[in-house]
Amino acid sequence: MMLIHSTNEFSAWRKSVANQTVAFVPTMGALHSGHHSLIAHAAQQCDLVVVSIFVNALQFGDVNDYDNYPRDEQSDYLASITAGANVVFAPHQQELFPADFDRYLTPSSIANEYEGRQRPGHFAGVVTVVHRLFDIVQPDIAIFGAKDYQQVAVIRAMSDDLHPTIRIVLLETVRDTDGLALSSRNARLSVASRLQAQVIPRALQAIATLHAQGETRSHMLKSEGLKILGLVPSIHVEYLEIVQQDTLNTVAEARNAVVLFAGVLDGVRLIDNLLLQ
Ligand code: PAF
Repeated sequence: MMLIHSTNEFSAWRKSVANQTVAFVPTMGALHSGHHSLIAHAAQQCDLVVVSIFVNALQFGDVNDYDNYPRDEQSDYLASITAGANVVFAPHQQELFPADFDRYLTPSSIANEYEGRQRPGHFAGVVTVVHRLFDIVQPDIAIFGAKDYQQVAVIRAMSDDLHPTIRIVLLETVRDTDGLALSSRNARLSVASRLQAQVIPRALQAIATLHAQGETRSHMLKSEGLKILGLVPSIHVEYLEIVQQDTLNTVAEARNAVVLFAGVLDGVRLIDNLLLQ
């Protein structure tokens, strides 16, 4: 079990285990049970598990958001090791991205809508850091949670291009008993808002149920979801869309589709999604 900060030290370790398979779970820390289950799954897939902890300034639109992002390296390290990690890589900001860094990758067009539209520049920051981490960690597989569905689609497109040997694994969103996806943002809700937010998974589930009953017309599925979300007028819906799972293009008929949701409740921006199988 090791906590490594320096890129050179990490690369030396990686060389020393060159003949073993490595599963990689990239994170920005603030680990919760959703991350723990990604790490536990990683440990079943490969000989070794690397977890990275790096709060990536490049993907934050707002400097205050970046400054206030929760950081507790020691507790994240312990949580990672307990969940099954062998090495936690927490690189120094300067080493990964020196102050004059400006070589951002351009994400694929999958990044254009939804989160990409709401958060300009966000996905360029995400693919730039993940590409850099993939170069250093050289994993066999990389594991992500489905909670950030569009993020994983954007990373997969980058990885297919630049790291074709790395297998991207998407694991189902881990939910709390009230149905809300586990996330550092959901944790910011007050008790009262949290109760109201439960309408989000209910709306997604209602769409999935209708779909399972044979309704495939996207506009019908979408209006069912909006009807349920409308029960809590304090939720400001940014988008609720039925899109194709790979391209994230909107579809008239929901086959191999996923429902994407984003909204704001009590000043907290929430996203969620559900696959329509
Ligand atoms: O989902 C996250 O925590 C981050 O966006 C990621 C993938 C670690 C890149 O900084």
